[in-house]
Amino acid sequence: MLWSAILLPVLAVLSGAQTNTPTNNDLADARRFLGDYNARAQEVWNAYVVASWNYDTNLTDHNNDILLEKSLALTEFEATAYVNKTKFNTTGFPDDIIRQFDFLGSAPSEGDTARRLQETLSEMGRIYAVGQVCDQDDPDNCRGLEPGLTEIMATSRDYEERLWVWLRWRDAVSKVIRPHYVTYVQLKNQIARENGYADYGDQWRRKYETDTFEQDMLDIWEEVKPFYLELHAYVRRKLYDVYGEKINLRGPLPEHLLGDMWGRFWTNLYSLTIPFPDKESLDVTPAMLEQNYTIMRMYEVSEEFFGSLGLLPLPTTFFQRSMLQKPTDREVACHATAWDFYDGQDFRIRMCTKIDMEDLLTIHHEMGHTQYQMQYAHLPLVFRDGANDAFHEAVGEVLALSAATPQHLHAIGLLDTVPDDHDADINFLLLQGLNMIATLPFSLVQDLWRWRVFSGDIPENEWNKKYWEMKAEIVGVVPPEERGEDQLDITSIYHVANDFDMIRYYARTIIEFQFQKAMCDEAGIPDPLYKCDIYNSQPAGTKLANMLKLGRSKPWPDAMQEMTGQRKMLADSWKAYFQPLYVWLQEKNRENGDEPGWDVNWRPDASSASATLPATFLFLTLSSVIGLLLFA
Ligand SMILES: *[C@@H]1O[C@H](CO)[C@@H](O)[C@H](O)[C@H]1NC(C)=O
Ligand SMILES: *[C@@H]1O[C@H](CO)[C@@H](O)[C@H](O)[C@H]1NC(C)=O
Ligand SMILES: *[C@@H]1O[C@H](CO)[C@@H](O)[C@H](O)[C@H]1NC(C)=O
Ligand SMILES: *[C@@H]1O[C@H](CO)[C@@H](O)[C@H](O)[C@H]1NC(C)=O
Ligand SMILES: [Zn+2]
Repeated sequence: MLWSAILLPVLAVLSGAQTNTPTNNDLADARRFLGDYNARAQEVWNAYVVASWNYDTNLTDHNNDILLEKSLALTEFEATAYVNKTKFNTTGFPDDIIRQFDFLGSAPSEGDTARRLQETLSEMGRIYAVGQVCDQDDPDNCRGLEPGLTEIMATSRDYEERLWVWLRWRDAVSKVIRPHYVTYVQLKNQIARENGYADYGDQWRRKYETDTFEQDMLDIWEEVKPFYLELHAYVRRKLYDVYGEKINLRGPLPEHLLGDMWGRFWTNLYSLTIPFPDKESLDVTPAMLEQNYTIMRMYEVSEEFFGSLGLLPLPTTFFQRSMLQKPTDREVACHATAWDFYDGQDFRIRMCTKIDMEDLLTIHHEMGHTQYQMQYAHLPLVFRDGANDAFHEAVGEVLALSAATPQHLHAIGLLDTVPDDHDADINFLLLQGLNMIATLPFSLVQDLWRWRVFSGDIPENEWNKKYWEMKAEIVGVVPPEERGEDQLDITSIYHVANDFDMIRYYARTIIEFQFQKAMCDEAGIPDPLYKCDIYNSQPAGTKLANMLKLGRSKPWPDAMQEMTGQRKMLADSWKAYFQPLYVWLQEKNRENGDEPGWDVNWRPDASSASATLPATFLFLTLSSVIGLLLFA
């Protein structure tokens, strides 16, 4: 779930190519240059995004040809702008002007780099979008990821069926992507270096604008890890109850059992992990179906929430131009995304919406992106972005935190009663934790691996091997079968196949709780944080809007300060939110005799031997492992 499909390297914080002598120190000239750039960039970007939309929502060769053409025009424009900007010596200019210069343009690339990159990206995107898995006993019955395979991975409790889907999806997608990914890494690194970065991972990290970014993320992991370990041990016990000896009670978890195609979110394990099953269910999908919810109604409910905070309404073109439902007459990319067309008025969402609770919350997420895009639409083009990508991802999630509370679901008529006792609270917090605790190490590893690949630290002939080693050590998750170097399993997820970093999801999962705390305080709603619903609070909405309006015009700590009164990403509010669950999980695991942590060497193939593992096998402490991974 992302906010836009645009990833050309428009960012050039460090200038590598010395293409002009920086002699022009005239501020009026600089302002004219920026004014001219902005007026023209809007048009070039708009043409590119339109072509990108047309391709993604109708995957034909013809549309791909047009996309390639517009993409090359954009690259050419940004390269010229880059060369032009190097005439300026910005010493002494106002910060705001210098910041625009920093972000503007991208160094010209040698030869046909831009064309090859666009072709590679289009091809990886297409392979991902059209990937299918056919039934084991009916090869004519094939399903795409959304809704077919997603549905199986959400609900099936058949070990073999899940295994089949998991394996064949990777055969259809990530195995085919692998050779293109090699090209992608090479070209992205080349362009990053032309723009003065050490490699593409360095470029990604620098977008977060703090020297300590990587260490900050690892420090946060140390803080939240105890929560994850308890959740992992609890879920392992529950999976054991369903899958028996396939699960080792001291081992890592087989990835194909975790509720989606990748083990990214474990939310769909709720039905088999619910702590107090006798309490009223928190899943409002049945109520939505009973009330004949339509896709349109779901968007209206979300829009009404934003409106209740005094935030901006959607433009009328939104509903005319968005793709909110999977079309049946053509191939499309389905992954939910929110698009800014850079003309200040055209904003759209692409989503193959299902009528269920998960997608109701996803709509809030995407609408958060759209709200951000509308709030900063008045800024110069290079500032029309989140304070950082984690901020962009956090906006809708903050609203979803409120929207998911039983209090709120009751208020909008989807839950009969508001359960209000300790057991019900634990049910709710576990549901939230299966998403917002479980996903943290997943996202972290996705980018720890990519940073090391871009830097050349992991050689190409060990890409898949190292990925699974990192997963086993940090996430405690392993593949259901041994994997080879003909595969590249990390590219089986949209964000990797489509060139999005994922540390944004890690950081946003932390900062959304900081935002929620700030907004609940502003709304005058007392703790506990997990009960807070900011619905109808205009003061909370104003606080949020003031931050969103900044776009990327200031370094993100300024935006953080606007929102929370301090300048760091901190796990305090996240921890406070999950504290009651943490206490409960600890007690429950002790009661079950379950030790948090895992034997990093256990694999599902060896499950029959699990009872005879030597007593000396190693429970790795995660901190030592992360140290090795990053500094070895
Ligand atoms: C899909 O694109 C093709 C061009 O390749 C076009 O002829 C067709 O009308 C488009 N379909 C839709 C539904 O837009
Ligand atoms: C760059 O400068 C050249 C020469 O002045 C001009 O023709 C061109 O339009 C400029 N392009 C951009 C993108 O600034
Ligand atoms: C830019 O201008 C400043 C102040 O006029 C001067 O000190 C500096 O040497 C100039 N830099 C370059 C690279 O010419
Ligand atoms: C939902 O639709 C069914 C079948 O059309 C109808 O019988 C029922 O009354 C509707 N329920 C609501 C709440 O509108
Ligand atoms: Zn998103």
